[in-house]
Amino acid sequence: MKTVITGSGIGIPNNVVPNEILGRLMDTTDEWIRTRSGIEQRYYADPGQGSAELGIIAAQNALAAAEREPRDIDAVIFATMTPNYFFPGNGPVVQAKMGFGEIPTFDIRQQCSGFLYALDLADSLIQSRKYRRLLLIGAEAHTPFMPWQNGWEMTIGGEAREVTPEEYAANTKIRDRTVLFGDGAGAVVVEASENGQRGLLSAKLYTDGSNLEALYVPGVGFRRRPYVDREQVAAGEPIPVMEGRVVFKEAVSRMPEAVRKVCKEAGVEVQDIDVLLIHQANLRIVEGVAQQLGLAREKVPHNIERYANTTAGTLPILYHECVADGRIRPGMLICFTALGSGLHWGAALYRC
Ligand code: ACO
Repeated sequence: MKTVITGSGIGIPNNVVPNEILGRLMDTTDEWIRTRSGIEQRYYADPGQGSAELGIIAAQNALAAAEREPRDIDAVIFATMTPNYFFPGNGPVVQAKMGFGEIPTFDIRQQCSGFLYALDLADSLIQSRKYRRLLLIGAEAHTPFMPWQNGWEMTIGGEAREVTPEEYAANTKIRDRTVLFGDGAGAVVVEASENGQRGLLSAKLYTDGSNLEALYVPGVGFRRRPYVDREQVAAGEPIPVMEGRVVFKEAVSRMPEAVRKVCKEAGVEVQDIDVLLIHQANLRIVEGVAQQLGLAREKVPHNIERYANTTAGTLPILYHECVADGRIRPGMLICFTALGSGLHWGAALYRC
């Protein structure tokens, strides 16, 4: 028995934010963002639109593509690092708003590797024969991390007001992170299939917490009393801290390693991979991983230029786009790989 993806969908917010607009909010340029990351634009959610709402749009589209109703789904796995509430997670929001029965919902938080973890967890639940059909959602609303004031009017509309010199200076301090992220969601329906040819072939997941502070949120944690206060906010501690070069180096070595391992486990060569779907954090990382594996550019699609980094959303969004435009076709060997905060990383090999 194998775990197969029977439908996918995406949930993208309405507000396109090109690099040029960010250049009016802080000391950055389209040229810097493009050359360092490959990003040209990103989408920002509407006020009040959280990762759960974006995830629901993606989930509804995935259910429609799989020709399934909510009543057909046995369990939901929601991967996000930006849930609507500190607790509970987004699972109960989705359950109530989409009209699922009282099915179990799992909330997992492996950041950029969230979708990979969801896929492997779903496969384990299917292989254990506990559930036959699951809905997996990877979604993020990153914009609430951005402590802008007048900047919102510039990015998502409203009365256009120039940012003050104070806001411009404050935004510039965190420019290395804010320019990299966008909001968005992807979802897939996975099902048990007795046709042994297609489905998930192998998955390997890893964690190395010794590099936790390379990418984390220092404030708003339950080691602190109280867990959030004015001092933390004033010090910017609810905003993620990232050592970009450390994460970059880890990404370009760990992901190729994980891809080689899943190929070995499945008894295939890396060159047999038809499409390698890499977490979209930086186009230079995508190119570096592809180069290390010796895979031709056309086998390694990317869409970071349009969406920026949507963390748990990138892999299901990229998968969906490649299926929709025919770059992923039945019979092809697909490999998913990701690395992100934790550090968590891994790879999964999938026969369409
Ligand atoms: N605009 C203009 N200049 C900037 C900006 C900006 N937005 N951001 C930083 N700079 C400046 C810096 O201040 C620095 O200036 P200095 O030389 O005068 O000190 C200069 O640009 C170079 O900065 P670096 O950090 O060396 O730039 P680098 O080439 O390493 O690129 C980047 C930075 C894009 C962050 C890269 O390191 C990266 O992509 N890292 C990995 C990110 C990642 O994979 N994250 C994981 C996923 S996210 C998750 O898990 C939630």
